[in-house]
Amino acid sequence: MILLLGGEKGGTGKSTVAVNLAVWLATTGADVVLIDTDRQRTASQFIERRNTLVDLPKVHCTEKYGNVFDTVRDLAKRYGEVIVDAGGRDSEELRTALVATQIVYCPLKASQPDIETSVHMNELVKLARGMNPTLQARLLISMGPTNPVIQEAAEAQQILRELPELTLSNVIVRDRKVYRDAMPEGRGVIEMNNAKATAEIKALAHEIYGVEG
Ligand SMILES: Nc1ncnc2c1ncn2[C@@H]1O[C@H](COP(=O)(O)OP(=O)(O)O)[C@@H](O)[C@H]1O
Ligand SMILES: [Mg+2]
Repeated sequence: MILLLGGEKGGTGKSTVAVNLAVWLATTGADVVLIDTDRQRTASQFIERRNTLVDLPKVHCTEKYGNVFDTVRDLAKRYGEVIVDAGGRDSEELRTALVATQIVYCPLKASQPDIETSVHMNELVKLARGMNPTLQARLLISMGPTNPVIQEAAEAQQILRELPELTLSNVIVRDRKVYRDAMPEGRGVIEMNNAKATAEIKALAHEIYGVEG
């Protein structure tokens, strides 16, 4: 399975979701590779820190910039699971990864996102489907408030009406300190003793990979 975390805005949680799913996959025994296509190197740096900790399940990581299509498809033949982390802008990396991937998740900070950004993402998904017709594309609320306001679901539905190429994930990843604390440690939140964040990552993994962890 090839999964892409993409979007056109920085700081929405793409790298955070990418590394946490990679760690979850590694703990289930999957052979997983992260492809970092963002020159900010958030995912690569996470893996470098993680690799200094010998007791943790291994996640492989590679960096690729520019046209990433061949690298993504090649690594998909060699690894059981591929996760691609893309930078937060419309780029050659994002466009070529959209053509190579099977699923793309586009994290949004909350249920009232910058709609303009998502509208452009909707267009990119539409373009990619010309070459990659089975592409699945989902929006993910990735830093939802921990005290959800009552109209959250209604707001999300409103947004989706303007984005016909995208569906909404059933999972909401909420704004939790543990996501920020785990990154510099090279750990996934499932390795941080935090039941709520662990449940979110497992629910997301279940939605994507269809297995319980
Ligand atoms: N669910 C969350 N709760 C709290 N902080 C988060 C969450 N997701 C991401 N962050 C923090 O937000 C910042 C941006 O996240 P990052 O994953 O690097 O975004 P992107 O890859 O989309 O640019 C980081 O400091 C990260 O720790
Ligand atoms: Mg990132």
